[in-house]
Amino acid sequence: MSASGRASCCFLCHEDANCEGVLNYLCMQVAALRRVDSIIEVTIYLDNAATTHMSDAALDEYTKVQRSYFGNPNGVHHVSQAAKTILEEKREYYAKLVGADVRGTIFTSSGTEACNLAIKGGKKDELAAIVSGLEHHCVLEPAKTYPVVKIVKSNLDGTIDLNDLEKILKENGSEVGLFALMAVNNETGVIQPIEEATQLVREHAGRAKILVDAVQGAPWLDLAHLFSFSDMMAVSAHKFHGPKGVGVLFSRSPNDLSSIISGGGQEYEKRSGTQDVASIAASAIALEEVQKDKESRLRAVKNLNTAFLDSLARGDAEFMVNGSRELQLGTIVNICFPEVRNEELIFLADQEGIAVSAGAACASGALQPSHVLLSMGLTKTRATSSIRVSFGVENTLQECISAAQQISAIAAKLRKTRAG
Ligand SMILES: Cc1ncc(COP(=O)(O)O)c(C=O)c1O
Repeated sequence: MSASGRASCCFLCHEDANCEGVLNYLCMQVAALRRVDSIIEVTIYLDNAATTHMSDAALDEYTKVQRSYFGNPNGVHHVSQAAKTILEEKREYYAKLVGADVRGTIFTSSGTEACNLAIKGGKKDELAAIVSGLEHHCVLEPAKTYPVVKIVKSNLDGTIDLNDLEKILKENGSEVGLFALMAVNNETGVIQPIEEATQLVREHAGRAKILVDAVQGAPWLDLAHLFSFSDMMAVSAHKFHGPKGVGVLFSRSPNDLSSIISGGGQEYEKRSGTQDVASIAASAIALEEVQKDKESRLRAVKNLNTAFLDSLARGDAEFMVNGSRELQLGTIVNICFPEVRNEELIFLADQEGIAVSAGAACASGALQPSHVLLSMGLTKTRATSSIRVSFGVENTLQECISAAQQISAIAAKLRKTRAG
């Protein structure tokens, strides 16, 4: 406590003002700027749900295509046509993998844009949208453009509440134009009951188009199986070791979609703008790699996840896992450390070279209590004491065990400091 009787709110600069965490956040930003040149200091990267590094094969493909097939794929001469051939080959690859039509395989700049295109581009002004409260902001925000938006409640285990969904569907039935649900939650890693949910939608809301956000599921799950339940599905390349800047929207009836970016009418009139052929080509190579071995990759990552939690359990800090362990895919775990502020824990872990996060990153990097955890019925206090740890096959067992030990020690210390 300071002389003024107020607790110092900023653990770095020990400012005396009641800054509501703002100074705390600024300190983190300043420190991040100082470290920008020393990114190689990150020794243990456990934020694979935020993004993944590009695979060597994807990088090679990127360089090759960028160097040799630089033409605008929408032109008529042979330089353009060579680039177009690559673009269309990759489109065919994606379409075949998922079981979509090539004309319904639309390249965008991100998973965010793919979801926006599905939601805003497919909007019927008179119809309502139903989305789960667990969705990414790139679904929740565009859904607000519908005249009526119904948010489905969530269960404590991290899944959508199917009873609430059924109730909403029964009340709104033929007025529903869109239903959106993610395959795997990006903060808790909980697999959503896509089959049951979409069956309810088909039963009660015949006009509804179903969007499955498969952004977190794409590296690990059978995409054709997921697409079989939906009318539209979104993926994003940087989540599966491809480059940033490539998303794909698969649509069963692309004629029902209006472009949300107008211009030259590329992507069968659904998304104007010159395609980044090199990045698209690299993304297809990356997806091919992860999809080829998805079962063994998932097994490896699950082992890392278990080893991390076992190591945490041997440490001093008290912790709880948010969401059901049984329902998690195994790539992401969300952990609450009671009486520890997640931003402090993340910052201090980062100082030790461990990169973890607190759920979805937004543009400012600011940490807000996770809307996903709040939607599950967890308190704001619990949400602001929770971190997300997400694994990739490149992580080693030893680094996961070591990261858990260090995180536990930091959390225990922070809690003790707070209590003292
Ligand atoms: C479930 C989910 N959907 C959509 C997105 C947005 O994808 P992008 O980062 O490509 O815009 C993310 C990104 O974290 C995500 O996790």
